Amino acid sequence: MKKVAVIGAAVTHFGELWEMSLRDLAREAAFSAINDAAITANDIDAIFVANMMASNTSGQAHLGALISTELRINVDSTRIEAACASGGLAIMRAEESIRSGRYKKVLVVGAEKMSDLSGFEISSALMEAGDEEWEMPYGATFAGLYALITRCYMERYKISEKHLALVSVKNHYHASLNPNAHFQQLVTIEDVLNSAPVASPLKLLDCSPVSDGAAAVVLADQDSAKPKVSIYLLGSGSATDTLALSERASYTSLPAVEKAAKSAYKEASLTPGDIDLAEVHDCFTIAEILAMEDLGFYPHGKAARALENKETTLGGKLPVNLSGGLKGCGHPVGATGVKQVVEIVNQLRGTAGKRQIKKADYGLVHNVGGTGATSVVHILGIK
Ligand code: COA
Repeated sequence: MKKVAVIGAAVTHFGELWEMSLRDLAREAAFSAINDAAITANDIDAIFVANMMASNTSGQAHLGALISTELRINVDSTRIEAACASGGLAIMRAEESIRSGRYKKVLVVGAEKMSDLSGFEISSALMEAGDEEWEMPYGATFAGLYALITRCYMERYKISEKHLALVSVKNHYHASLNPNAHFQQLVTIEDVLNSAPVASPLKLLDCSPVSDGAAAVVLADQDSAKPKVSIYLLGSGSATDTLALSERASYTSLPAVEKAAKSAYKEASLTPGDIDLAEVHDCFTIAEILAMEDLGFYPHGKAARALENKETTLGGKLPVNLSGGLKGCGHPVGATGVKQVVEIVNQLRGTAGKRQIKKADYGLVHNVGGTGATSVVHILGIK
């Protein structure tokens, strides 16, 4: 099977961007990625747009046509929605459209505009990714659902709130090295432990924020790839699970992540031990700990200790979330899975600035929708 390359990659600033609309953000990311690929919009054969909430937040649902309108090209253009995993899934669908031989160059844009809504409105819109019979009507929020997961995990593996705080401290540190990140400030363990309760035991600094932002990549068939700047998609996997957390056999692991990761490793002919860095979906601090285990980097119950040893901090043996992750870089949900791929591309190209790691051949991306109802894993490499 021919490989698919990422030949262009870009992100906008993430944060509360009052002066920019969804359309502005998507346009900026799309043109930056096209420029990065050293092509023009007319070279694009198809577009995939990742977004979850534009109907609620921007009064616009027809995003495929919106982006093709902005680019002034009339190509096949499709919106992909899979909650917070929309970005990862859009990249997977774009990759397949090239592998099938239908298209040679495909643009993927992930964009979300969240900060114009009130806290109540955005929580309600986000909960459309939960179970509409058994979760949303009872007032559940994603912070509340992840708090249940956290309690079960803490009880089973005897970790403390300090271990959770280490995820936030690390990811805020990485974000402070990323000029596009929502948050630029460092936080300490005490800051996290003393921050306002959101859904006990999760506190403000255990949560990803409500962010605006966009990211884009240009994918191309192997023959269109350029040496040195092209990074290859070596393996991908996606899987689903029950919408409702209450229907799961266990709360301390996400089986859809394990299944998606298994497919991605198999397709790439790699194992967890081959991966040099990862961008994982830390929507809440517990989610990064689960990810480290479900992706096979650490045995179940052991990832928190790796945080204590700084193994996943810049300079450690497996740096995780060098972009700042969802916690520090921000979480404009439809953009996140695409931004994660952009970060790995920049790291593998050696263009990640102050947060650049020394040497890397393989990077992994883990993107989750809901409490693991959709999971997508991509593995990227330099050849
Ligand atoms: N991390 C760090 N700081 C945060 C933050 C976060 N997650 N969220 C808000 N802040 C800061 C703001 O920058 C602001 O700082 P300032 O006073 O210095 O300007 C302050 O906290 C208050 O911000 P506000 O917007 O009023 O916070 P809020 O209480 O309305 O919202 C959360 C806080 C945690 C409830 C909100 O960020 C949230 O819902 N996060 C989860 C989003 C989510 O569920 N995503 C999907 C995941 S599956």
